[in-house]
Amino acid sequence: MSKRNLNIVLLCAGKSSRLKFNLPKVILPINGKTLLERSLANLRKLDPKKTIIVTGFKKDLVVDMARSCNYKNIEFANQKSQIGTGHAVKQATSLIDKNSIVLILNGDTPFVDIDTIKQSISSYLKNNSAFTIATSFPKEVQGYGRILRDNDNQLLDIVEDKDCSSEQKLIKEVNAGLYLIDSNLLKKYIGKIKKNKNSEYYLTDLINIFVRNGLRVDSISIKDERKFVNINTFDDYKYAHDVDKMFVYENCIKNDIFLSDPNTFQKDFDVKISKNVYIGPNVILKGSTEIKENVRIEGSVYIDSSYIGKGSIIKPFTSIEESTIGSMTRIGPFCNLRPGNKIKDKVKIGNFVEIKKSIINKKSKISHHSYIGDTEMGTGVNIGAGTITCNYDGFDKYKTIIENDVFVGSDTMLIAPIKLGENSTTGAGSVLTSDLPPNSLGITRIKERHIKNWKKKSKK
Ligand code: UD1
Ligand code: MG
Repeated sequence: MSKRNLNIVLLCAGKSSRLKFNLPKVILPINGKTLLERSLANLRKLDPKKTIIVTGFKKDLVVDMARSCNYKNIEFANQKSQIGTGHAVKQATSLIDKNSIVLILNGDTPFVDIDTIKQSISSYLKNNSAFTIATSFPKEVQGYGRILRDNDNQLLDIVEDKDCSSEQKLIKEVNAGLYLIDSNLLKKYIGKIKKNKNSEYYLTDLINIFVRNGLRVDSISIKDERKFVNINTFDDYKYAHDVDKMFVYENCIKNDIFLSDPNTFQKDFDVKISKNVYIGPNVILKGSTEIKENVRIEGSVYIDSSYIGKGSIIKPFTSIEESTIGSMTRIGPFCNLRPGNKIKDKVKIGNFVEIKKSIINKKSKISHHSYIGDTEMGTGVNIGAGTITCNYDGFDKYKTIIENDVFVGSDTMLIAPIKLGENSTTGAGSVLTSDLPPNSLGITRIKERHIKNWKKKSKK
């Protein structure tokens, strides 16, 4: 990129009057992520010198959401009354750096991706342009500003849909709502936009002002019209959900990720998925989750900010939070991994197992119905069904240490703090309260009695 700073102006002040939601449209979610979060997640990748968000209608909601995105160098400009995109940009001009490149984006086009923006910036710089706009050729042009050109195909003006003559309505090229402009020229000419017959100041009128002043105006045409879906009406909003799903699906296919049901797959922006991963229906991947090669995530799985190593299998109805899982490990079905676990390679965690803040080393097995908390477990350990590490006495939490190759019999209660020495065994149904030396058996069992000829009580 050029030596000039990049400043971004994101227009988010509008009233969303056509949507009739009584909320700023930029805070509406599309498949779990709001328009604003989507825009900022993208713009962050440009590492701009500053980003100015123009707010107005219910501005506190927009400011709060923008702040929650942990976005660097963000500033806010207030547009008191929503009298057009030109007026909105004018509110930001005093915050814009001199001699910078300004990227102006509408807040209601959440699918403009980083490649499109970079492509537009390159075109702006290559042409040594004063003003570059992005255009597209959507199947449905209604609602978009139409591009007017002269006989030499030079950009002349933009006419808004509602102001188009019947002839202009037939124009297929539309304004996509992405503008690159020299900051000094923006500051100089923004005040020249006149109030129009709708009592609004249109940013799009700046094109013709530049043309009339002999300044170089260019356009870049973007092929994939879906990137410029503009959310004005309820139908647009509904359609945006489908477009988003399609993008996620296409991206997965391109990267050899097999989605069994794109309609029920949800993924946060920062989630990383490697090649040859299978994802079943109803899967939610959140936060900083990373899924490595050849992982299989079967249906109805929730994973938040966790790492899943190569070739591991996550069976249905499993929840994994803030944990790391090694390679070739098998988790679930019906498994709850709460935050703070380090589960290593070739481990098996079976059904109805809850694990919290524990280290489970290689090749250990916790196959059924157990609670393991605040535990360090060695390699090759076998935990029998119904084992509980009793880590809490109602006041404090205590640790359990289970060394390599221990065999814990079913239904053992381990009253922490406790250590089971290497290669030791516990008898099924035992309640152990003190450290068990290596190679020994720990058993607490009352003597079994058999009473012969026992008569069952009759119900009568
Ligand atoms: C705008 C363009 C149109 C283009 C389309 C592409 C103008 C005049 N028209 O139309 O040529 O084809 O985008 O998406 O710019 N906003 C404010 N303050 C205001 C008005 C709007 O901040 O006073 C914000 C809105 O919140 C929105 C963005 O600006 O995020 C665009 O406004 P919108 O009303 O959606 O413009 P369109 O009619 O879609
Ligand atoms: Mg719009």
